[in-house]
Amino acid sequence: MPHQSGSLRVALLGCGVVGTQVARLLTEQADDLAARVGARLELVGIAVRDTTAEREGVDPALLTQDADELVTRADVVVEVMGGIEPARTLILRAIEHGASVVTANKALLAADGPTLYAAADAAGVDLYFEAAVAGAIPIVRPVRESLAGDRVQRVLGIVNGTTNYVLDKMATDGLDLDQAVKEAQALGYAEADPTADVEGYDAAAKAAILASLAFHTRVSIDDVHREGITGLTADDVAWAASTGRTLKLLAIAERNTADDGTEGIQVRVHPALVPSDHPLAGVRGAFNAVFVEAEAAGELMFYGRGAGGAPTASAVLGDVVSVARHRVLGGRGPVESSYADLPVLPADSARTRYQVRLEVRDQPGVLAQVAAVLAEHGVSIESVRQSAVPDDHVALLLITTHTASERALSGTVEAISGLDVVRAVVSVLRVEGA
Ligand code: HSE
Repeated sequence: MPHQSGSLRVALLGCGVVGTQVARLLTEQADDLAARVGARLELVGIAVRDTTAEREGVDPALLTQDADELVTRADVVVEVMGGIEPARTLILRAIEHGASVVTANKALLAADGPTLYAAADAAGVDLYFEAAVAGAIPIVRPVRESLAGDRVQRVLGIVNGTTNYVLDKMATDGLDLDQAVKEAQALGYAEADPTADVEGYDAAAKAAILASLAFHTRVSIDDVHREGITGLTADDVAWAASTGRTLKLLAIAERNTADDGTEGIQVRVHPALVPSDHPLAGVRGAFNAVFVEAEAAGELMFYGRGAGGAPTASAVLGDVVSVARHRVLGGRGPVESSYADLPVLPADSARTRYQVRLEVRDQPGVLAQVAAVLAEHGVSIESVRQSAVPDDHVALLLITTHTASERALSGTVEAISGLDVVRAVVSVLRVEGA
């Protein structure tokens, strides 16, 4: 129910890029928000580490270092501080004191979501987190609610804007990885330490959250097979373009059947070649997109800005309105849905297509030897392209396979690299979305 004054008290934890925008929108749109919620939203405090730092548009009187106290006097607590601690302790304390929680904290949800869900359930309050995956893009609510009557088969997402920007720059300007990362840093997309983005940790947390929702199964970041973009070269990107494909860092969650017949799901983050006419290939710059394949709905794509203060604040505010409405009208939003409890299958049972690039001796019988190794491992060839390097007795082979398991493919690659006629396995990339 609304607070005695007819308003709902909102506390903000964190006032960085996103928090500042949340505070601004709460103030600037106060009348509209009140009309939509049915009660005024009163920002009662903002917990920050340093109360003396200048924050444009934020009333300094609202700033406090005492987050422990702040969360005990709010109806809705918005957590945009990030990181595992103290965010987890503060969220649990807020819930214990009866507050509904809106969080953008993907790392915490992917590491310990069930603890938060259980606490919210016990207290009968809401836990909303639209901003934790793909910033402004409505994807949590569609998967959690709009598709709750369907059976999701697969989710393919570009959920990290920094890496998408980097790969796009490599493709369009021919930059190498380090140069493109420096540009992303200069534009404020990439952090000074870009590890979380370029090594795929950020995307893996988002993949875990999406997989949990899509498959009604608990999935933590530890269940996600993760490979970043740091091994990719300008050459890989150029070759992708020459074969009508685009390199993207994808977060993939899909239903799968292991070799022993176990039905489960696979959740992975890795670079992949996407056909240039696939909707995900057209996602440029730092934009995000999530492509969902569901049994009845068919293919859906959600596209937009995946980061940034105002876009992320838009998702946060949408959640604030939802949880505030529940407090005014009664009722609650969805609780954790993990009833399906599907096994997360091992990474090496994933099945996809591959593009293998080899440098081989240009002499009779080489192609036959390579093809024989693929056949021995049960990997079927879809196409082969060969180009000779003039005067060097070397040929480049580009082999695209039909669908094969990771296990079969890695056995194949190991055997191929042991052939005398093979000078180098230059790259092995997965092909997705076709
Ligand atoms: N660093 C992320 C990105 C945004 O580049 O998309 C926050 O999740």
